[in-house]
Amino acid sequence: MIKGALTVTAMLDQKLQRDNKAEMCDLLDLNDVLERDVTQLSGGELQRFAIAMTCIQTADVYMFDEPSSYLDIKQRLKAAQTIRGLLHPDCYVIAVEHDLSVLDYLSDFICCLYGKPSMYGVVTMPASVREGINIFLDGFVPTENLRFREESLSFKMSETADEFIIDKSRRYSYPSMTKTLGSFKLTVESGDFTDSEIIVMLGENGMGKTTFVRLLAGDDPDEVTQKQTFLVSLKPQKIAPKFPGTVRELLMKQIKGAFLHPQFTTDVVKPMNLENIIDQEVKTLSGGELQRVAIVLSLGKPADVYLIDEPSSFLDSEQRIIASKVIKRYILHSKKTAFVIEHDFIMATYLADRVIVFEGKPAIAATATPPQSLVTGMNRFLASLEITFRRDPTNYRPRVNKMNSVKDKEQKSSGNYFFLED
Ligand SMILES: Nc1ncnc2c1ncn2[C@@H]1O[C@H](COP(=O)(O)OP(=O)(O)OP(=O)(O)O)[C@@H](O)[C@H]1O
Ligand SMILES: [Mg+2]
Repeated sequence: MIKGALTVTAMLDQKLQRDNKAEMCDLLDLNDVLERDVTQLSGGELQRFAIAMTCIQTADVYMFDEPSSYLDIKQRLKAAQTIRGLLHPDCYVIAVEHDLSVLDYLSDFICCLYGKPSMYGVVTMPASVREGINIFLDGFVPTENLRFREESLSFKMSETADEFIIDKSRRYSYPSMTKTLGSFKLTVESGDFTDSEIIVMLGENGMGKTTFVRLLAGDDPDEVTQKQTFLVSLKPQKIAPKFPGTVRELLMKQIKGAFLHPQFTTDVVKPMNLENIIDQEVKTLSGGELQRVAIVLSLGKPADVYLIDEPSSFLDSEQRIIASKVIKRYILHSKKTAFVIEHDFIMATYLADRVIVFEGKPAIAATATPPQSLVTGMNRFLASLEITFRRDPTNYRPRVNKMNSVKDKEQKSSGNYFFLED
């Protein structure tokens, strides 16, 4: 916890034991907030500051608990590089991480933890990165011959698409618009979309993703040209529960129709695992529990277009995969459209039929491209981040190539930053 009112630079000086302060501030993008009071920092800024505070100390073991929270993809990978940079022959690093692509990029060895929440937990022996993540996804530890989850988790794209006969009959569009908020200006290039598709928004923090989603939800742009004709349901990024009652009462009040519908129960409520919190007071829920309730609430409202702002925040890796599957299945099944903002790269690629890329300068001016194909949009986004991805042949999960590895260099020179199939 952070107590007292001190500036970022003063707090760093208090803990400084190495000569890497300037380097850490560069790597973790802290130079613009050095003189700011620590209590004023945004979520992402605070996270980067906390990482810097650890990295400027000397230690035999460095520990990081969920270093990626609140960070955008670019900052997640930069944080991972910074943490890896701590390694030298006399020290090691332990990290807890829910974003599997960050974990993949960050680590040399992985231990999985399994068990029953609030009952017991077991830590596996360290495995290589690829093996460790595959153990987690398979739900099976080969060395112990032990299964800890019934089903295995896979990211094969065609898996969900094959289940549905998709006939995209409805077409919608939105006009080009601008929205000015203080000194920030967002320009949206006009775009169109159909039913049965998910459009993922990719962009750094402060690029106007939430602002765009609000425009789609009916906020007025700078100049109002036409009123939009589709009905929307929004899951906001920040969830502030005010409801004075239990989860069941909230669901009955806001989405009674869906909540009592057997299909919705089977497809959404059950997998999102609301059963064990259904009679709990909404105000006492944890971050992850609230997120699960908020996702169910937004999907339960009748709408043409579902706007889901950062569904993975506060969820663990397993819940992220389940939430992605639920969202994808629900949107395709009910022939609706979803716009999803997502910083977890594995979730983003799993969900996306097409993507909107936000380009420009964070907090100053940004442009949202029209929806583009997954490969084109991802290539454009990843090229701007100078990151390449490949796919794991076993479960198709996207993996970040290590910077300057043979694959990384090959893919960059051929312009293939993103691979659909290996
Ligand atoms: N009411 C406002 N007045 C002035 N500036 C604002 C206002 N609301 C948002 N901004 C600024 O507009 C920019 C875009 O904000 P927005 O919330 O849309 O970003 P975002 O892409 O969703 O970011 P994140 O990934 O952090 O959620 C930010 O720099 C933010 O500080
Ligand atoms: Mg946002």
